[in-house]
Amino acid sequence: MNTDTSTVAGLLAEGRAAGVDRLDTQLLLARALACSRSWLLAHDDAVLDTVQTAALRAQLARRAAGEPLAYLVGEKEFHGLLLSVDPRVLVPRPDTEVLVDWALELLAGDLRDVAQPWVIDLGTGSGAIALAVKHGHAAAQMTATDTSPDALEVARGNATRLGLDVVFATGSWWAAAGEQRFHLVLSNPPYIAAGDSHLPALAHEPTLALTPGGDGLGALAEIVHGAAQHLATCGWLLLEHGFDQADAVQSMLFERGFTEVETRHDLGGQPRCTGGRL
Ligand SMILES: C[S@@+](CC[C@H](N)C(=O)[O-])C[C@H]1O[C@@H](n2cnc3c(N)ncnc32)[C@H](O)[C@@H]1O
Repeated sequence: MNTDTSTVAGLLAEGRAAGVDRLDTQLLLARALACSRSWLLAHDDAVLDTVQTAALRAQLARRAAGEPLAYLVGEKEFHGLLLSVDPRVLVPRPDTEVLVDWALELLAGDLRDVAQPWVIDLGTGSGAIALAVKHGHAAAQMTATDTSPDALEVARGNATRLGLDVVFATGSWWAAAGEQRFHLVLSNPPYIAAGDSHLPALAHEPTLALTPGGDGLGALAEIVHGAAQHLATCGWLLLEHGFDQADAVQSMLFERGFTEVETRHDLGGQPRCTGGRL
């Protein structure tokens, strides 16, 4: 029988030795003990029982192997919402909040006279964008799509738990959008190039969510090219993209007749979202 126990201090040391960030180890400990991080600081001699110690060690090993903390704890905060996440979906990134803020700005500004704006989130993953926009603008008639039924199951679960009314549809990009025309189209599609050196470090997240293959621009191009058939008059299209893809996305939008084309930067100062009006 396993009788191995450890203290908070002991497990913090084990985490450090395994190369896990101190903050991550503290968050895992705080969850295991159902306490706050400040309590941990004052009680580093507290003892975890055998089950808690074994579970914590297993989590530290997974974290040390590169698994995102969000998968270990099963949730991630995004734009003020706590979303359930697991390896079926990309972990929502803070950079994507730029897209949500822009969308909410348009709904409160340019699109304010549309009583029931139709909004679609293509490639919704955990539902992050769709749910945050619906939460911030209740009048939005929100549709969220994904080609992955597994991802949609996670997104549906989040919508139900948060009590947010979103229509979900399965299918590849515009094929899932139906006949409706949208005032606002949002997407954070996979945009990493197939041979990109960052991909191996992201191996725990679904490949489908990360890369469309090739030069990384394929999904962005497909969304831009199909937009005219699905946008309402003077509708907006906002796209998240790689830090080095803003020029390419701007060119695609200009070629398709978009106006008011603009690129916005993420929290790290990188060009991250480009959009325009058709
Ligand atoms: C970068 S993730 C974004 C997830 C979520 N919107 C977010 O911002 O956290 C891209 C999403 O696009 C979906 N996807 C990939 N290929 C697709 C396709 N052909 N049609 C629709 N969705 C697709 C993936 O399953 C994934 O959920």
